[in-house]
Amino acid sequence: MARTREKLTLLVAAVAVGLLLAGGAVAIDDLVTDGPGVGADSRPVGRAQGTYMLSSQHEEVIVVSITVVLTAGPYNGSTLVVAGRDRIYDQTRELAVVGGTGGLRGASGYVLWTTAKVWSEVHMVLELDVHASVPLPDEDDDDNDVLVLGSRDA
Ligand SMILES: *[C@@H]1O[C@H](CO)[C@@H](O)[C@H](O)[C@H]1NC(C)=O
Repeated sequence: MARTREKLTLLVAAVAVGLLLAGGAVAIDDLVTDGPGVGADSRPVGRAQGTYMLSSQHEEVIVVSITVVLTAGPYNGSTLVVAGRDRIYDQTRELAVVGGTGGLRGASGYVLWTTAKVWSEVHMVLELDVHASVPLPDEDDDDNDVLVLGSRDA
């Protein structure tokens, strides 16, 4: 089944509060805004929820597994699932967009992830430059394409 794909770019910034290097793993629930700061000129647009896990014996590498839930804009209520390896002292890290829900269902692509501002060892602003494509919904979506596992009338 061929599907048209739509490109979209979202620019979001997350405030990450973690005790990562001390503890090895941290669960996060961070504010996502649409600007690079947390000032009056950037609106809250969602939350980033998930885990950062220190995952290398030799260097400061974490494995990220987060879901960004959007709470404003055209994708309000949709989520974007981001996963990958973050070598935290690199200028730019590339992580994967591995999926999404709602208006972002089936999203795939990548995120260019940078540390925009460091306030302390556990408090910083991350800039997530999201490049993802989303399959267009089928015009005649009548569930004929749904694969039913274990159906008796196959
Ligand atoms: C986002 O969607 C929720 C639930 O439908 C709604 O209550 C809220 O007002 C929306 N927020 C914005 C900023 O549109």
